[in-house]
Amino acid sequence: MNELTRIARKRTRRVIGLMAGTSLDGISAAVVDVTGSGPDTKAVLLEHATFAFDPEVKAAILKASSPETGTVDLLSELNFVIGELLAEAARKIVEQSGLSMADVDLIGSHGQTVYHCPRGGRTGWGAASTLQIGEPCVLAERTGVTTVADFRTRDVAAGGCGAPLVPYVDFVLLRSEEKSRVVLNIGGIANITVLPKGCAIDDVFAFDTGPGNIAIDGVVRVLTGGKQEFDSEGKLAAEGSVNLGIVEAVLGHEYFGTEPPKSTGREMFGSEFAGLILEKARALGLSQNDIAATTTAITARSIHDACVRFVYPKVKVDEVVASGGGTRNDTLARMLKDTFTPVPVVMSDECGVNSMAKEAIAFAVLANEAISGGRANVPGATGARRRVILGKIVPAAKGD
Ligand SMILES: Nc1ncnc2c1ncn2[C@@H]1O[C@H](COP(=O)(O)OP(=O)(O)O)[C@@H](O)[C@H]1O
Ligand SMILES: [Mg+2]
Repeated sequence: MNELTRIARKRTRRVIGLMAGTSLDGISAAVVDVTGSGPDTKAVLLEHATFAFDPEVKAAILKASSPETGTVDLLSELNFVIGELLAEAARKIVEQSGLSMADVDLIGSHGQTVYHCPRGGRTGWGAASTLQIGEPCVLAERTGVTTVADFRTRDVAAGGCGAPLVPYVDFVLLRSEEKSRVVLNIGGIANITVLPKGCAIDDVFAFDTGPGNIAIDGVVRVLTGGKQEFDSEGKLAAEGSVNLGIVEAVLGHEYFGTEPPKSTGREMFGSEFAGLILEKARALGLSQNDIAATTTAITARSIHDACVRFVYPKVKVDEVVASGGGTRNDTLARMLKDTFTPVPVVMSDECGVNSMAKEAIAFAVLANEAISGGRANVPGATGARRRVILGKIVPAAKGD
């Protein structure tokens, strides 16, 4: 039997989900048993881990991500290099789970975004585009497993932002009949999915609120002379006080006031944004701790402001369900809890979804949906004209 037919006929598929986010911390990998498809899909996490990028890989991705330094030779080669790293992550996570690649039906790989310009680029064409690298043919070749990748491009082709894509999975795994939820993921960029209680897919809306960890990471890297890549447990910020003047000034950035659907990335909130915060803070002679605290407050406030502006007028929110690396920053977590009071902020683990593995699980579920022929973009999240099937499939043959 053709391998694609074999996979399509299965009721439960074992899927590896691979995610590499804007934080550039590495590859988040998960092994997931996915049963069924569509709104009633069930996902059971078997194993997950993050495999950190070497500093040279991180530097190369940053170089590739900038229009000034991202040359075609670098992009072409890095696409294959990251393909190998993704295959390595897939191999390790399978080994860690005590399984073998022969037990795996499918891989869903997000790849590494190097450019995301859904509202038109700067080269004069005005064309919407997005580019994730990490060649799926390398993944399929190294693992012998059918691989789905490049999930964002079809949504962009359908007039959407190509992001965020996780809202479909939030709808599948976290909607509730009793509670209206805001599902918050704090990666490099922070995003929210609004799931009104008893919602149908067309009631779901979602958008990127702005910086998640990216501003904190950027500022901390400069403050520590590159010794720290992030504010571990939020310790630097915990010792500082917030400068409200800077918070207010930075929150005047036009992105925060823009109506959703909207998505953003390193292009808008990367090193220049961190530089702007540092410049304002240094002009006032703030200490390292105060700068970290202020940047953390900007992040927390921008997330809360987004809810006040764009969610509360439409939905009475019962709880915020949080996930992503940013929840490990205790100061950020505390500030979020404080600003959202009386709305409780809970971890997604309490709702049955591992908060550290959520994005990798999401790409396993999206790959499963592609193989099942389900339409997995949410127009209320991406602004697409219609619902489409996401992903490009690289088929493996039996015995590969
Ligand atoms: N122990 C920790 N303390 C503070 N921040 C952390 C911790 N662990 C992870 N993070 C933050 O989370 C980021 C990674 O989060 P992740 O959800 O993988 O984001 P992305 O999807 O953008 O890769 C790190 O860059 C860091 O900013
Ligand atoms: Mg990550």
